[in-house]
Amino acid sequence: MSGTIQSVLQENRKFDPPPSEGACFDSMQAYQALQDRFFDDMEGTWRELAHAHLSWRKPFTRVLNRDQAPFFRWFEDGELNVSENCLDRHVEAGLGKRTAIIWEGEPGEVRRISYEALLHDVCRAANAMREMGIEQGDRVVIYMPMVPEAAVAMLACSRIGATHSVVFGAFSAQALKERIEDAGAKLVITADGGYRRGAVHDLKSSVDEALKTGCACVRHVLVVKRGGNDIGWRQGRDIDWHEALKVQPDTCEPVSLSSEHPLFILYTSGSTGKPKGIVHSSGGFLLWARLTMQWTFDFRPKDDVFWCTADIGWITGHTYSVYGPLACGGTTLMYEGVPTYPDAGRLWKICAAHSVTVFYTAPTAIRALIKAGDEWPAKHDLSKLRILGTVGEPINPEAWIWYYTVIGGERCPIVDTWWQTETGGHMLSPLPFATPTKPGSATFPLPGIFAAVVDNEGKPVGKGEGGLLVITQPWPAMLRGIWGDPKRYEETYWHKFGNRYYFAGDGARCDEDGYFWIMGRVDDVLNVSGHRLGTMEVESALVSHELVAEAAIVGRPDDVKGEAIFAFVVLKGECDDPAALEAILRKHVSQEIGPIAKPDDIRFAGSLPKTRSGKIMRRLLRDIAAGREITQDISTLEDQKVIEQLQGQQ
Ligand code: WTA
Repeated sequence: MSGTIQSVLQENRKFDPPPSEGACFDSMQAYQALQDRFFDDMEGTWRELAHAHLSWRKPFTRVLNRDQAPFFRWFEDGELNVSENCLDRHVEAGLGKRTAIIWEGEPGEVRRISYEALLHDVCRAANAMREMGIEQGDRVVIYMPMVPEAAVAMLACSRIGATHSVVFGAFSAQALKERIEDAGAKLVITADGGYRRGAVHDLKSSVDEALKTGCACVRHVLVVKRGGNDIGWRQGRDIDWHEALKVQPDTCEPVSLSSEHPLFILYTSGSTGKPKGIVHSSGGFLLWARLTMQWTFDFRPKDDVFWCTADIGWITGHTYSVYGPLACGGTTLMYEGVPTYPDAGRLWKICAAHSVTVFYTAPTAIRALIKAGDEWPAKHDLSKLRILGTVGEPINPEAWIWYYTVIGGERCPIVDTWWQTETGGHMLSPLPFATPTKPGSATFPLPGIFAAVVDNEGKPVGKGEGGLLVITQPWPAMLRGIWGDPKRYEETYWHKFGNRYYFAGDGARCDEDGYFWIMGRVDDVLNVSGHRLGTMEVESALVSHELVAEAAIVGRPDDVKGEAIFAFVVLKGECDDPAALEAILRKHVSQEIGPIAKPDDIRFAGSLPKTRSGKIMRRLLRDIAAGREITQDISTLEDQKVIEQLQGQQ
């Protein structure tokens, strides 16, 4: 198979979009026409879209305020409520009986929740939170498995103007604590546990541990009983979700909030130091969530069943499991468990059982399923699928072709969407029934997005040349800042190009047809199974162990994960049993951050190679980790022997 794919690649083959009646965009001309309108009148075009696609409690008069750039504000004097846009609006339009969420638990139970029922649950949860003293502007941390209550909790926060911060359920107590404290959350919403790989994964005990050692800001813990596992209970602090909601009325007037009100904070890794709390707005974010659902996925709320496999702990889960589909009034599917439980056919079985029409997942999942074999998808009826999406990392053409042929039956267009936690929604992506695709390319900027590939000075590079990906105009769903750290926001995203461009941190090139090809991070951020991890974060976790003096983390290419984590470790003293210590250090990182940050390889050395100015020579370490020839000049290294050690030869 790979032989043919190689030749496909060399031919640079294009896949024409299939025709589709009533598609949102049915030709490149239609795309270009809208992009031209943005070019001619950017603010006027956004104004029109924002009026047409959102319900405003108080209409905005000003589209974009650039006065304090790069702190941009969108639709700022307008007021709206996100939960009202996602729920009440559809119920009032007579769609109350339509399914909002189809949920499948890992053991196999299914719940279908109508818009009406979801609205009632959200109101009850909002009332319960108010009774616990949660007010507009307060922060609420959500640390949950993939259960409908997680979406209910998010929407309930938005109803009363609390800002949610979802923390991925597999993060450790330590990581949870840091996020709770940084956000200053008053309330934590969690569950006893959720199913993963056939067993209950406990969550409440991590919350208890986080709260035992800090988090003085937290007054209450609201606990959904899902796993049925034994948990500790602190009277007065801990509250049972079902008991609390049961006694609440099923109506709750949504509060009118500024378009700029922070809907959520989501922590993500940066190249240095602790995770950054990325802040997103209400109006701008929701507008883009809704528009990209319609544009990228050609989402048809009446007929489609949309499934984004991302956990709500990540931005993809925020925008495309919850807010996007619900803002459109469509049906979103949530699945609790792992993709390969009880077997590698689980995802395809779910697609068939619920007639999924639009499916959105990550290249790492696709690669793992390719390894499992074609017999798994073959067992299930995938004929309802009409669009396939990917996100999180560059998709290798081999995986693209498999997805296209084996899953999509050469019938479904593939949308390879490039975006980031910071961008709120898709930025570069094909339009499924308009854009000819090339495997491995995220193609073009969506309408309203202006992107370029530039050199270090900000000058556009030539066709086919590598450079840095920048966004040259603000867009409504852009991050509004880093929680509590405006300086870091400016430094990370804007200073490099003198506040003119948003710097994404990715390398890219544009080919002769103008297609964008993402080349990966240019900073010290790893992409492990589509998850961002800062090398510094993992290094700090290692160094926090008493036996470790110094550590350097680099990525090593990996077939399934994209990148694996390779750790070079300098110990404080001698070690008699390196294998045992490796296991101890892995466990330690897992406790500090979470299992996704566990190093795949650990190599011990007497010192780390550094430049004269004391910087770790990461390029050299990357070459060593990958088993490649060393390309960096190492003649200045004082201790040449260390190279052999690092290569594992001593
Ligand atoms: C990478 C996930 C290539 C990229 C939505 C980006 C991609 C980082 C793609 C953001 C793609 C995401 N092709 N690379 N289609 N999508 N990336 O914040 O390096 O978890 O900067 O957001 O993932 O990761 P994040």
